[in-house]
Formats: sequence, C-alpha cells, structure tokens
Amino acid sequence: MIVRPLAPEDLARIERIEQGAMPSPWSEAALREEIGAANGFALVAACGETVCGYAFFRTVLPESELLHLVVAPEWRRRQVATTLLRRAMAGLAAQGCTVCFLEVRASNAAALRLYASTGFIRIGTRKHYYSQPVEDALLLTRDIMPAGEERNEDIAGC
Ligand SMILES: CC(C)(COP(=O)(O)OP(=O)(O)OC[C@H]1O[C@@H](n2cnc3c(N)ncnc32)[C@H](O)[C@@H]1OP(=O)(O)O)[C@@H](O)C(=O)NCCC(=O)NCCS
Repeated sequence: MIVRPLAPEDLARIERIEQGAMPSPWSEAALREEIGAANGFALVAACGETVCGYAFFRTVLPESELLHLVVAPEWRRRQVATTLLRRAMAGLAAQGCTVCFLEVRASNAAALRLYASTGFIRIGTRKHYYSQPVEDALLLTRDIMPAGEERNEDIAGC
C-alpha cells in the first residue's frame, strides 16, 4: 500500500466510498471543489487501483485544517488512517505548516482514539456544530514538527 497525492481519477472511487460508508456523504461537487482548491492538500492510501482511504486538508500558512478523513469499511483497523495522518503531517511540514486543526463529532469514539494516538489534543468545543443529528464538535489540534522530523513511513503491505 502506498500513500500518494489524490488524483482526479480517484474521484469515482472516492464517491463510491462516500455513498456506501458515510451517513452524510460529500457530494461529487464538493469533492471536485476540494480536489481543485488552490490551498487544498489531499492524499489517498491505495493498494493498486483500490482506494483504501483518503484525507482532505486546507492550508493557510502556517496553519492547516483536516476537513475530511475516511477509510473504506473493509480496510479499517489496519492502520490506514494512522499512516495517512503521518504522511499528511510530513507533507504539511514540507509546505511550512506548523499546526493542524480539526473538528470531530463528540460521539465519534473511533476517530477520537485515532486522533489521540496520532498526537492531537482537545482545545475546545463548538456547541451544536453538527446537524443530522445535532451534536457538539470537539476542536482538536496538533503541532507539526519541522520538515524531516515527522514519521513518514508507508504501510507494509496490502
Ligand atoms: C475513524 C477512521 C478514519 C479510522 O480509520 P482506521 O484506518 O480504521 O484507523 P487505524 O486503523 O489507523 O486506527 C488507529 C487507532 O484508532 C483507534 N480506532 C480506530 N477505529 C476504531 C474503532 N472502530 N473503535 C475503537 N478504536 C478505534 C484505535 O486506537 C486504533 O488503533 P488499534 O487498531 O491499534 O487499536 C475510520 O473508522 C472511518 O473512516 N470512519 C468514518 C469516517 C470518520 O469518522 N472520519 C473521521 C471524521 S473527523
């Protein structure tokens, strides 16, 4: 498995994962907009032609924000998200980012454990931030080490 920059050709596969796995899937238009965003940074974890997971970030130097992170259900609990985040932190460091922010549903225990294990800490709450269902968002952040100091290895195999 490799982690590489997301390409426009990945769009159809990502859309299928969104529709099949996410309660509030991103639309094709939203995905296209993010892929084309000037200050966007997006990675996929791929095994051959198969997209296993993906992450979308925006950068406003020196800050970055994780907008979306999804691993296809059949690839979960195999360190795909952990690897995507590690590679993303290294890539963001290379662009000059020193910090990353994200919001996550307060009930998303899997994501909260993932983020804790990859160095994110909680810095606040946004009340009733999400809809369908209405729920608070937890605001998390993580410092990004200078380029070359972030762990940056691929997953061993498919
Ligand atoms: C959250 C998500 C991205 C995790 O992806 P993943 O590739 O399965 O995560 P990893 O295998 O790298 O897991 C790393 C650690 O996170 C925690 N974790 C991940 N999934 C978990 C789960 N379902 N239950 C409990 N802990 C979990 C564990 O501590 C895990 O380490 P371990 O497997 O050694 O115990 C994935 O479940 C997903 O796509 N969920 C739907 C979308 C979503 O919630 N995105 C985040 C929104 S902010």
